[in-house]
Amino acid sequence: MAFWSRCAAQRSNDADSSGVIFAASPAKPKRRTPVSESKPDTSAAEAYESVIVPTVFRDWAEILVREAQVEEGMRVLDVACGTGVVARCAAQLCGARGRSTGVDIDPAMIEVARAVSHKEGLQIDYHCASASELPFEPASFDAALCQQGLQYFPEKEKALAELHRVMRPGARLVVATWTQMQQCAGHWAMIDALERRNIDAKDMRKPFALSDHGVLRELVEGAGFGHVAVRTVQRVVRFPSAKAFVESIAQGAPSSRLALAKVPAAEWPGFLAKVEAHLEPWSRSGHLEFPMGSNLLSARR
Ligand SMILES: C[S@@+](CC[C@H](N)C(=O)[O-])C[C@H]1O[C@@H](n2cnc3c(N)ncnc32)[C@H](O)[C@@H]1O
Repeated sequence: MAFWSRCAAQRSNDADSSGVIFAASPAKPKRRTPVSESKPDTSAAEAYESVIVPTVFRDWAEILVREAQVEEGMRVLDVACGTGVVARCAAQLCGARGRSTGVDIDPAMIEVARAVSHKEGLQIDYHCASASELPFEPASFDAALCQQGLQYFPEKEKALAELHRVMRPGARLVVATWTQMQQCAGHWAMIDALERRNIDAKDMRKPFALSDHGVLRELVEGAGFGHVAVRTVQRVVRFPSAKAFVESIAQGAPSSRLALAKVPAAEWPGFLAKVEAHLEPWSRSGHLEFPMGSNLLSARR
């Protein structure tokens, strides 16, 4: 079955307004399980972990834990942990004497995070909870990290106040949010192709909602953090082709996949051709390669 037919067959389930996915991956229909309260459908989260984390998020996770100066014995919190890539990097560094903890609002992400950590032999505590109501005592953590999560929170001030509450005085906070969408060639190509077809791309614009250094800094300072510094970090991401890139996003990207699900099946080949043409300058021999920029904020409690 063609890629888009599989997507179309499955896109009736969707996400809430924060970009949280409770639905099935469009690309894995055979593995889909019914969505129920006790057992979430994990296919989108599995796709996120297998195709998007290694290509896009893994490198930045390592940068975040270095920035937070995570070391043996520390108690580290990863907020909006997704499938746990940052929590896993932290666990490697804080070791058995320390503790790595992950929180995410999406039960499917948490289920996959637990399975991956177990497979890798890492002891990590995972909690399914909102960043607005962290289930921890005051001063429970020596460092807190949030990789590409804050921009989705409906109550950003409340979430930062919660982080402030659960961190010990002096603890380091590190937050990453994408820079302007125009600097992320792959997403910009898709947003442009969607909007030229008059398809609402708001779910693909959402990852870039906290691109402004000043806005990010003000939010964090407003929650009572000090020594706030923000810089931009660029990394190159690689996919086998523009088509593989678009299909990866359609399968597993929180929020952005919802925008792609709005492309009518009959328009998919034309849409893909437009994205491929836009990304031609980034195509290298046998693969696609483009830079992505992320803001990296560090602060002290
Ligand atoms: C782009 S993913 C990033 C996941 C992870 N930090 C990583 O680097 O792979 C954004 C995550 O934010 C989570 N999220 C969105 N709103 C949230 C909220 N209010 N509280 C906790 N997590 C939230 C989503 O469920 C999703 O897993």
